[in-house]
Amino acid sequence: MEEKLRNIDNEAGQAIAKAAGLEELNEIRVKYLGKKGELTQVLRGMGALSAEERPRIGQVANEVRASIDNQLSARTALLKEEAKGLRLKGEGIDVTLPGTPVLRGGKHPLTIVTEEIQTFFLGLGFSIAEGPEIETDYYNFEALNLPKDHPARDMQDTFFISEETLLRTHTSPVQVRTMEKTAPKLPVKIIVPGKVYRRDDDATHSPMFSQVEGLAIDRRITFSDLKGTLDLFLREMFGPKTKTRFRPSYFPFTEPSAEVDISCVMCGGQGCRVCSHTGWLEILGSGMVHPRVLEVSGYNSEEVTGFAFGMGVERITMLKYGIDDLRVLFENDLRFLRQF
Ligand code: DAH
Repeated sequence: MEEKLRNIDNEAGQAIAKAAGLEELNEIRVKYLGKKGELTQVLRGMGALSAEERPRIGQVANEVRASIDNQLSARTALLKEEAKGLRLKGEGIDVTLPGTPVLRGGKHPLTIVTEEIQTFFLGLGFSIAEGPEIETDYYNFEALNLPKDHPARDMQDTFFISEETLLRTHTSPVQVRTMEKTAPKLPVKIIVPGKVYRRDDDATHSPMFSQVEGLAIDRRITFSDLKGTLDLFLREMFGPKTKTRFRPSYFPFTEPSAEVDISCVMCGGQGCRVCSHTGWLEILGSGMVHPRVLEVSGYNSEEVTGFAFGMGVERITMLKYGIDDLRVLFENDLRFLRQF
């Protein structure tokens, strides 16, 4: 009987070693250790053994069961490992390869500069206002003291949608839209970032571009407030050595009006190609809000005054970063955008 048991152990051992899959191992388990399995059958015959033999054979039988069990477990673990290895190869996963990088987006240079402008003016107590890009003739021109056949309309070549609606040519209409809502409350201190549209297309003009408008209305606001504010702003934007120059100009919605120049960011005022050898760069338009604009917006021009300004974000961005062609700002070329 003992020999029979040893044979079962050997036989099972060989079968286990040859087994190619988990299913086959399970069959082997049933064949030897199952209820009707070979080992069980042998044990059934133990009744015929003498009282001295029984404990010894019993012990051998236990050893054989444990041995088969161990071999089954070991082989199962091995086959599982192998299967995993095959699966990994099958899926083409090589854990030693570097992973796929998660690409991080960044801010567009126009966004960076717009936010910089906003941050500065928020710090001075201005808040941000917005208005529609599809605008009426009234807010874009009429209310800003530009009646229907005013020659100054020619400065802003307009995309008309119908006779009375258009794509706004500047952010100035938001001055009127805002004051209409706030009047007669004081003060009004807003900046207006936004897109504007003009029929223009070359290396320094795009049919769509960005502006930031500014407006401050209160009692006794003077031209010095305008100068001080813009002086501070331009030095913040272009560096503390920047000089500013206020040149008399004309806008229908301001009186007096001034064009503001900064000393050239490239040559520091010596004169170069960028500043057309003048040493100065024109950077924004500004002035004291015209009494008519105050009146149509609901403010008493005898009691309040204010200043306004408007700047082009593309131009400021190009000067700040030394970009010589405006179009790269709209082409979405990552080789360009990654530099910011
Ligand atoms: N709206 C003008 C333009 O787009 C710029 C401008 C000039 C805005 C003077 C102002 C201002 O608020 O006071 O050409």
